[in-house]
Amino acid sequence: MIESFVNTWRRLMHKIGGNNWIVNSSCPMRLLKFSPRIVIVVLVVAASILGVLTHSFLQGGAWIAADQKLGLVVGPLLKGPADPPVFAYWISGTGSQGQKMLRLLKAVYHPRNRYLLHLDAGSSAVERSNLARSVQSERLFRAFRNVNVIGQSYAVDRTGPSVLAATLHGAAVLLRLNADWDWFITLSASDYPLVTQDDLLHVFASLPRNLNFIDHTSDLGWKEYARFDKIVVDPSLYMDKNSQLLISSGTRKTPDAFKIFTGSPWVILSRAFVEHCIQGSDNLPRKLLMYFANVAYSMESYFQTVICNSPEFQNTTVNNDLRYIVWDNPPGLEPLFLNQTHFKAMIKSRAAFARKFVEDDPVLKKVDKRILKRVQSGVGFGQWCSSRPGNKKNKSKGDACLSWGDINVVKPGPSATRLKSLVAELISEDKLYSDQCKF
Ligand SMILES: *[C@@H]1O[C@H](CO)[C@@H](O)[C@H](O)[C@H]1NC(C)=O
Ligand SMILES: *[C@@H]1O[C@H](CO)[C@@H](O)[C@H](O)[C@H]1NC(C)=O
Ligand SMILES: *[C@@H]1O[C@H](CO)[C@@H](O)[C@H](O)[C@H]1NC(C)=O
Repeated sequence: MIESFVNTWRRLMHKIGGNNWIVNSSCPMRLLKFSPRIVIVVLVVAASILGVLTHSFLQGGAWIAADQKLGLVVGPLLKGPADPPVFAYWISGTGSQGQKMLRLLKAVYHPRNRYLLHLDAGSSAVERSNLARSVQSERLFRAFRNVNVIGQSYAVDRTGPSVLAATLHGAAVLLRLNADWDWFITLSASDYPLVTQDDLLHVFASLPRNLNFIDHTSDLGWKEYARFDKIVVDPSLYMDKNSQLLISSGTRKTPDAFKIFTGSPWVILSRAFVEHCIQGSDNLPRKLLMYFANVAYSMESYFQTVICNSPEFQNTTVNNDLRYIVWDNPPGLEPLFLNQTHFKAMIKSRAAFARKFVEDDPVLKKVDKRILKRVQSGVGFGQWCSSRPGNKKNKSKGDACLSWGDINVVKPGPSATRLKSLVAELISEDKLYSDQCKF
């Protein structure tokens, strides 16, 4: 049913060229040759969106193109059944997290992927333009043009629905920017990878592209009273500055029109599911968005509830977020900061990412050295990068990768074996189905 909706949507978008225009600082819009009537309609719609988008991008670009001015030639991105997938990363942060974000960006960088960075209203305009400038000054990012920074900032409360709105914004922009990506991955500036991108691409290459990694349960426990019966208002949705949630003294009934599911706020979503949430003609995603506008920590429940109440997507759920997170005992509202003492357990967890880390914690250096093979200014290991910085001569140049080759070839390392064994367990038939959206 929804498959046909998605197909219809694709056909429609194709017809009006909706997927083919790209917002870019140097070339604001490219519309492809279609009938004048359709073009006029598209122009009117696009112009209004464009007004927002051109202002919000400080740095943007077309997908995989040669930058002639710089003499940087970039090979084509291949996307056949035998080629690795493409990830779209949404990386969010707040004030004084620009450097943390850049380090994370380099740690998860691969020319195949798409990256969209956002610093919320907790950051200053100077910090945001510094971040955009740092991205722009990197020869590698200029060559592949796959890193974008949202220039316009807005308020976000990480405990409220405004962070959900921001995530959906990121997903919507990524859908528009690029038609090639397969999975949407959310990260915060306090996250760090435990596998190289070659490893992640290699493991995901063998998976069905419709899988969604969403940790979830319908056993609400204490959250039923503390989260879903309470009504909150998130001023970050309508004020310029990040503001705290207002909690109403009134309560409301737990819904019976749909079943609430809750879990980890960190997700890896398939393109089809993201399209369903943002562009789908089913009303459930919109209805739930409005319901969750008054729920605290709605990022822990929105995608969970949408997917488990959508029969056409239920069976694509993998009940795991592939993250290593440590909670205090008893758990607080935020997980513990990880350090050297957690290194062994992080590896043993076989997870793809871990959180949270303080800026420049020594354990990150250990991850860089032992897993990512990353030096100070460089990117994480990737077979595509044929000459890496690291020797004393080239260190001062600050380039993340000195020269590159084929971006369609990945070389898995030891961390791929770990992640592969975890994913194989999760998607084994008895585990996958027994863990899916249990009502
Ligand atoms: C999902 O899985 C269940 C149980 O295996 C099956 O009955 C149902 O038809 C599946 N739904 C879809 C849309 O494939
Ligand atoms: C590492 O983190 C744990 C939990 O956050 C903390 O109890 C411990 O003191 C930290 N150790 C170091 C060496 O910082
Ligand atoms: C150092 O950098 C230069 C220019 O970027 C490059 O030609 C050279 O091969 C690099 N040396 C090594 C050992 O990677």
